Amino acid sequence: KPRVGVLISGRGSNMEALIKAAKAPDFPAEIVLVLSNKPEAAGLEIARALGVAAEAVPAKPFGKDREAHERALDAKLQEAGVEIVCLAGYMRLLTPYLVNRWAGRMLNIHPSLLPEFPGLDTHARAIEAGAAKHGCTVHLVTEGMDEGPVVAQAEVPVLPNDTEDALAARVLAQEHIIYPRALAELARKIRLPQAASHS
Ligand code: GAR
Repeated sequence: KPRVGVLISGRGSNMEALIKAAKAPDFPAEIVLVLSNKPEAAGLEIARALGVAAEAVPAKPFGKDREAHERALDAKLQEAGVEIVCLAGYMRLLTPYLVNRWAGRMLNIHPSLLPEFPGLDTHARAIEAGAAKHGCTVHLVTEGMDEGPVVAQAEVPVLPNDTEDALAARVLAQEHIIYPRALAELARKIRLPQAASHS
């Protein structure tokens, strides 16, 4: 099974959904490492409680050198034998260095129906725009922010008088469903060439 590293910055509910899904014996990937750029990220403790190694790699010591921070993250991923990276509420923009190193093997989850509402505050913007539908997207990470081929999407309705929090919760429940599904799909694809070479 491909080994998976998850990058977080905070709460880690998508990370938790990935770890729990991957505990099923027939899940085609294994979560082996969680890294956070924020030492105080609540998700680090959640990962450890679920038996997954988790550590912070703060950006601060690297100052403005974003690539140096990414090299430190990448070293941890390599050391753990990671083959697929999942961004799960990782709130730092990546440089081409990390994106290119993980091309085709890095997923991100975004709380909108991309290409609608890239960037931040997606739920408030969907309500503001009077959208009838909103949702979430898992996509392969490419150099452009919130771009890259879509692997999975789920839609939810925007209800009359919806609040940002109510809409966010409705979307988050779907995130927790589609992210494990998208990871499984990528893991099966990545495993194929190896399986073929052994047959
Ligand atoms: C999720 O809603 C995720 O889609 C979003 O942050 C939240 C993280 O929650 N990601 C982005 O906005 C990326 N631009 P979590 O830490 O509980 O998974």
